[in-house]
Amino acid sequence: MASASQEESASSLSRGAPHVGNDHQCVVYVTSSLPDPGTQPLEAAGLAIRQHNEPSSPSPHELSSGLQDACAALTTVADTVTIEMLEAAKRLRVVANIAVGYDNVDLAAADRLGIVVTHTPEVLTEAVADLAWALLLAAARRVTEGDTWVRSGDWPGWAPTQLLGYSLVNKTLAVVGMGRIGSAVARRAVGFNMRILSCSRTSKPELEKSVGATHTSLDAALRQADYVVVTAPLSSESFHLIDSTALSIMKETAILINVGRGSVVNEEALVDALREGAIAGAGLDVYENEPTVPAELRSLRNVVLLPHIGSATHETRAAMVELCCQNILAVLSGGRPLTPVPFQEAPRKSHA
Ligand code: GLV
Repeated sequence: MASASQEESASSLSRGAPHVGNDHQCVVYVTSSLPDPGTQPLEAAGLAIRQHNEPSSPSPHELSSGLQDACAALTTVADTVTIEMLEAAKRLRVVANIAVGYDNVDLAAADRLGIVVTHTPEVLTEAVADLAWALLLAAARRVTEGDTWVRSGDWPGWAPTQLLGYSLVNKTLAVVGMGRIGSAVARRAVGFNMRILSCSRTSKPELEKSVGATHTSLDAALRQADYVVVTAPLSSESFHLIDSTALSIMKETAILINVGRGSVVNEEALVDALREGAIAGAGLDVYENEPTVPAELRSLRNVVLLPHIGSATHETRAAMVELCCQNILAVLSGGRPLTPVPFQEAPRKSHA
């Protein structure tokens, strides 16, 4: 739910740009190329588009210039939108972030300046839960190691000792961050007859009941779990939640999956734990300083590494693009966005 102040921002039109279609000056700055439907819904509404169609995201300087005279922006998690950029963007009324997370945008500054920030919850829940399971199965059954071996041409043929992994059935799964995505991850675990532990700040009895999960402290969950899946967003509370102490109490046979935000896990501590065998393996889709992935982490065999593709299915990305466009159109028309970020004490990359 949006806070009163965020909703007020949505409807106040305090930045003075006229309604969609009436203003030839109204430019939407799009910081990446987009899958279908692309910018078509915005163009159909008469908006001018300026797009950064490069393989990598805009530099801070490019981002700042792109935002400067825009009335709306469609940003990604790779864009760190700072207070200085927002203050300089005098016409900006809405930042539509194509992600469920929004730690890349200075929410407090946006709110103060009357700029609405929106995100794309729900439409990506199932895709991210699927990817968490892809990582979990790949790490448990050493799928990428096997693939590399076969491709090398050195595989000598079947043998009883090769690439032994861990079973999933009847094991214990801990979900750190039992929200929409966490519960979708847990729902899939029912098929493996797993015991499910839910770790979140507060118990969510209905959600937990719906997937047969038991609410536990993080400490208790880490000690008991065979598989730990992190889906938590980044906040001041979740920053480095999984640190060396947390890793040291996990089972030596345990596997850690992170599809939330990189900085929820202390990457350096994880490298040590994987190298020393404090845990058996890991599967990561997110990193502390994307797109940089430390060489130490890349050199380890017992970790599966993906390039932040949690929501990357044709269907899901199309729905995310569509939702961003609808949010922009709603705000520029003086209405309420469909999915404003829930305003809260803002976790921001630049402050983490
Ligand atoms: C991607 O990381 C997202 O927040 O949707």
